[in-house]
Amino acid sequence: MAPIPPKRDLCTLFDLVPAELWRLVEDGRRFKRERGFPHTDKPLAGKTLAMVFEKASTRTRVSFEVAAFELGGHALNLTSQGSQLARGEPVRDTARVLSGYCHGIMVRTFGQDRVEEMAAHARVPVINGLSDKFHPCQILADLMTAADRFGVKEPAAMRGLKVAWIGDGNNVAHSWIAASALLGMEIALACPAGHLPAEDVLARARALAHGGRVTVTADPAEAARGAAVVNTDVWASMGQEDEAEARARVFAPYQVNEALVRLARPDAVVLHCLPAHRGEEITDAVMEGPRSAVWEQAENRLHVQKAVLAWLMGAPHA
Ligand code: CP
Ligand code: NVA
Repeated sequence: MAPIPPKRDLCTLFDLVPAELWRLVEDGRRFKRERGFPHTDKPLAGKTLAMVFEKASTRTRVSFEVAAFELGGHALNLTSQGSQLARGEPVRDTARVLSGYCHGIMVRTFGQDRVEEMAAHARVPVINGLSDKFHPCQILADLMTAADRFGVKEPAAMRGLKVAWIGDGNNVAHSWIAASALLGMEIALACPAGHLPAEDVLARARALAHGGRVTVTADPAEAARGAAVVNTDVWASMGQEDEAEARARVFAPYQVNEALVRLARPDAVVLHCLPAHRGEEITDAVMEGPRSAVWEQAENRLHVQKAVLAWLMGAPHA
């Protein structure tokens, strides 16, 4: 009998090899096609996902809960305020206790170290539902959206797509850098000084031998020119609310508007992980315009979340 493999976690996309990343995208597409037909296999039957939220969420919360339900399982919601976390119970203790009740843990928190501490001490798979550093599940949905829009069948075809990231070199940008490197894509980031992607993330991406190219510029036009995917996010992420005014001044030239989108490929798709601040990082006209894929992108969170849950929680692990 083959040995049972050890548990896996999804703390960052750097945890995956390219074939695993692409398989999650493909499984997400399959779950999307099959939705509406009752899933015949219920990989989460009798299993419970604990969802730990130390920050707000709409999409991540709802898509994980619906995904777990439709796969035959259950998801429970634990907020920091409603649990002992806000009163100082250590993450490592929470991880061990939840492992005794649940079959997987999704955590949305501040420091990436909290996600990794959860993973190190949990006996069940841990999924990063967003930290200050990474947002891996979001980029699975983004890749699926781009692949669908461009009719990509093989991961090799992703290599031909240039991705432009306009704005803050933040958690979502970091996960896009990881994904691009794994799939050998070209990503051009336009970020103002002081808000560049983290050096360690750039170095890790450049060290991957998959032929991806990551460039950082201060010029949004340079990044957007010829791009197949134009991507942005809020200028002040959760936890940076106090900096919002100062950031609005620095980021003003980094708006995704119709003039910028015209520099991209005529068939380019515009992505935004949402929630969006119309009139700041993206205009209403672009959000609602023909190049926008943001609603499809948001829906795809459900389908890729199923892929992640089925992969990590569907099979037994040691
Ligand atoms: N994109 C995203 O993660 O949305 P929520 O913050 O609503 O979960
Ligand atoms: N960068 C944003 C993404 C929200 C989904 C944040 O961290 O608040």
